[in-house]
Amino acid sequence: MSERKLRVAVVGCGMIANSAHIPAWLSQPGAEIVGVVDRDLDRAKTLANKHAIPGVFDDVGNMLKELSPDVVSVCTPAGSHKEHAEAALRAGAHVLCEKPLTITSRDAADLFKAAQESDRHLLVGQSMRFYNQVAAAKAFAAGGQLGDIYCADVARMRRRGIPTHGSFHIKELSGGGVLYDLGVHMLDTVLWVMGNPKVVAVSGATYSKIGPRNENLITSSVESGAFAGGVSSASYDAATFNVEDFASAFLRLDNGGTIHLKVCWAANIPDSAGGVMIMGTEGGLSFDPRVLDLRVIKNMGRYQVDITPKILPPEPNHPFYAHWHMIAHFVRVIKGTEEICVKKEEALNVMRALEAIYQSAKEGCEIRLDQADG
Ligand SMILES: NC(=O)c1ccc[n+]([C@@H]2O[C@H](COP(=O)([O-])OP(=O)(O)OC[C@H]3O[C@@H](n4cnc5c(N)ncnc54)[C@H](O)[C@@H]3O)[C@@H](O)[C@H]2O)c1
Repeated sequence: MSERKLRVAVVGCGMIANSAHIPAWLSQPGAEIVGVVDRDLDRAKTLANKHAIPGVFDDVGNMLKELSPDVVSVCTPAGSHKEHAEAALRAGAHVLCEKPLTITSRDAADLFKAAQESDRHLLVGQSMRFYNQVAAAKAFAAGGQLGDIYCADVARMRRRGIPTHGSFHIKELSGGGVLYDLGVHMLDTVLWVMGNPKVVAVSGATYSKIGPRNENLITSSVESGAFAGGVSSASYDAATFNVEDFASAFLRLDNGGTIHLKVCWAANIPDSAGGVMIMGTEGGLSFDPRVLDLRVIKNMGRYQVDITPKILPPEPNHPFYAHWHMIAHFVRVIKGTEEICVKKEEALNVMRALEAIYQSAKEGCEIRLDQADG
């Protein structure tokens, strides 16, 4: 007898839903999309028509009541994640929620509590973990190839890449700027590869120097994180830009290690650049999470060697292919054949550190997190 398909609903029909969640769910033989929700009903209708999805809604509560889905993919701006994810969990659905999980760590903890009370899975959409080279980096670090890991340098710097779609630049809707867009990915990735040490102290600075200017420059939507040819309604408006476009931080870890983190949407640098360097006593790693350039730095006898592991190419060949892997993983988690990749403590560690960067930037001093509860 064939297994019943998971009935999936997608909330938020913007860039990431169109480009990644919808096609990735459609590629899952054990799942079907039964409904989509967007407060802009026309967007929801367009998406539903394109993929013959039967349910179309402009309200999450109505959708949950009418469809009782098994799974909900939350793809709204971060400021709405708590409300939408909690409603879905309380209605008995497993939830895949886009990053950042919420805009405060308290809300994030509440969501995990809701998941536990409802006996449902909550997967935070840290899709970067599912890139092939990041998975390989994690395997090398976890396998002891680096020895004692004590330092990481992490940067994701765009020359001009303020998201020109959506509401990333509006604090009331997204909670924060580049830290909650790129920072959450980079910090989660590096902490995961390093073995999830707890962040115990943070010193940070944030800037908003370029976003609020109307530069009238020629820019590319791909550079701003939108998939070429995907949904990219230009809604960035310098006049309403009220988040940080640049953040820099120094983080102390409970094992004595440290992380330097630098992320920006816009800066006067030669080219968009970035990457991760992780340093251990027996080896190091150098990679850019988005491209196949992982290098393992070791010694062999008296020689210093750079090892270039053979990493499989993206499958499918799509800029957001990690979402395909993440959704396949979530299906296995729901079926009970795999443990969830992003643990509650890991998600809270990242959220608390990001919050502390904002607090440190505001107060101009280091913030200690050793006393944080939970
Ligand atoms: N993992 C990744 O690589 C990645 C990439 C891009 C975006 N994201 C995340 O995905 C989320 C959405 O980003 P996006 O780029 O798709 O933004 P977007 O603005 O293109 O899409 C958001 C959609 O949500 C709808 N919406 C807003 N408030 C709503 C509400 N209260 N009820 C119903 N619908 C509502 C909007 O009308 C819009 O269609 C964000 O959290 C973002 O950080 C993740």
